[in-house]
Amino acid sequence: MTKALVAYSTRSGQTQSIADLVAEGIRFTGADATVVNATSLTKEQDLEGYDAYIFGSATYHGEMMQSMKTLLFLAAKLNLQGKAGGSFGAFGWSGEAPDRIYETMENIFQMDMVGTPLRLKSSSLQGGLQMAQDYGRAIGKKITGK
Ligand SMILES: Cc1cc2nc3c(=O)[nH]c(=O)nc-3n(C[C@H](O)[C@H](O)[C@H](O)COP(=O)(O)O)c2cc1C
Repeated sequence: MTKALVAYSTRSGQTQSIADLVAEGIRFTGADATVVNATSLTKEQDLEGYDAYIFGSATYHGEMMQSMKTLLFLAAKLNLQGKAGGSFGAFGWSGEAPDRIYETMENIFQMDMVGTPLRLKSSSLQGGLQMAQDYGRAIGKKITGK
């Protein structure tokens, strides 16, 4: 089965809510989606075997959270070239984290990135629910062709 990994870093839960909605969108296309906290991905094997990788972090002090930085260093050990990718994150006013994650996936990992990073103030505000599901659907389409 076509499989996607959705990994998130959060402090107060918003980015986890976005991760769950992105995963729902992926599942609408018939692909399988696993949602995990970045802190529980510790070995290269934890990242192996997926067709798409969608990484998200909240922005704190202008940066992604440490657990997402650690995950990106781990992911750099694998060959993710050409795999489908996306990034997301909750933010307050500047929202650098999803952009930095996206750039790393695109420039270092050379992944096949979907559209743009998904930046949401909240999964429940300003159409966030729909946007997060649609983001997942776009990733799902890439890997299932549906
Ligand atoms: C101490 C602190 C620092 C923050 N720094 C930023 C920041 O630099 N840029 C930004 O856009 N949001 C910033 N935020 C807002 C968070 O990104 C926002 O509350 C987000 O929804 C948190 O997501 P989470 O629930 O996934 O942790 C900050 C929040 C706190 C409490």
